Amino acid sequence: MKMLGSLCALLLLGTSLSLPLDLSGRWEEWKMMQNRRYTGQEEETWRRAVWEKNYRQVEAHNREADQGLHTYWQGMNQFSDWTSEEWAMFVSGIPPQVTRNSTNVMSFDEADVQRLPKFVDYRKKGMVTPVKNQGPCGSCWAFSSAGALEGQLAKQTGQLVDLSPQNLVDCVTENSGCGGGYMTNAFRYVEQNGGIDSDMAYPYVGEDQPCRYNSSGMAAQCKGYKEIPVGNEHALAMALWKVGPVSVGIDATLSSFQFYQKGVYYDPSCNKDDINHAVLAVGFGVTVKGKKYWIVKNSWGEEWGNKGYILMARNRDNLCGIANLASYPVM
Ligand SMILES: *[C@@H]1O[C@H](CO)[C@@H](O)[C@H](O)[C@H]1NC(C)=O
Ligand SMILES: *[C@@H]1O[C@H](CO)[C@@H](O)[C@H](O)[C@H]1NC(C)=O
Repeated sequence: MKMLGSLCALLLLGTSLSLPLDLSGRWEEWKMMQNRRYTGQEEETWRRAVWEKNYRQVEAHNREADQGLHTYWQGMNQFSDWTSEEWAMFVSGIPPQVTRNSTNVMSFDEADVQRLPKFVDYRKKGMVTPVKNQGPCGSCWAFSSAGALEGQLAKQTGQLVDLSPQNLVDCVTENSGCGGGYMTNAFRYVEQNGGIDSDMAYPYVGEDQPCRYNSSGMAAQCKGYKEIPVGNEHALAMALWKVGPVSVGIDATLSSFQFYQKGVYYDPSCNKDDINHAVLAVGFGVTVKGKKYWIVKNSWGEEWGNKGYILMARNRDNLCGIANLASYPVM
């Protein structure tokens, strides 16, 4: 059986190598689906070269994943014609930190970690709003903060309401709007401002504007925030279990993250000391094969990842630094 298996693999490999693979059809399909237009033949030519490089990388990864060498698969998406430089620029919604304020660290009983349930998923509890798209604005921190506040609001009132990331982008003066920021500053703003508007009252535009918070559109308040002890995945799981969705910072610069599609993401190159993107942890679980994961909501639309979500490896040496800049609002 083993012989047969490898023979088949060889034959398959042989076929795909001997065929001169022309990707023109795929390219046209992708452009149509993305509604992409380029300004001239020159731009189209080099964009296609970038796209082809990414296409081949994704295909190569998926062949390995099919053989069981990875726990996740990749796919083409709206970022497929982006260069790695453009990607690095896009994924810079959290400024590099010189020092960390750890004045509000949560406390938990290590003994309780033994009692953690296998599965927690706040989407099933009506505590998570639909996936949003931040567009070309470094406002991931605002979507992450709004998401954590939405979770606490739903927990307290039973009402699921989209809160306004734009309110945070425009009004959190300690942050830099579309230039990036920290979730803890957003929670502190909501506390000191006396509230945050609903998304309906203060819609998203994806650009820096003057602050126009209006208390008549206020939909939630908070009393402060708590931080997860740096790097402690047990504490992150405890917070998720006991409190609700948690804002987390991660390294999202790798192309494996850019093209993630499904499965449990694990890339040993992910750098836990370079936190650059904010997302929202909304639960955790374990696969039938025993792979533990975090359920993470992103803000790149539903087209990215698995309907806008990613499962990230849990308890694997703090992958991508998921427990390094984690916090939640106290409502
Ligand atoms: C730490 O606190 C200071 C002042 O309160 C603030 O300016 C800074 O942005 C905070 N840093 C983080 C990572 O929240
Ligand atoms: C706030 O909203 C109310 C109700 O829509 C409106 O009457 C009021 O003029 C607004 N205030 C400001 C400062 O825009």
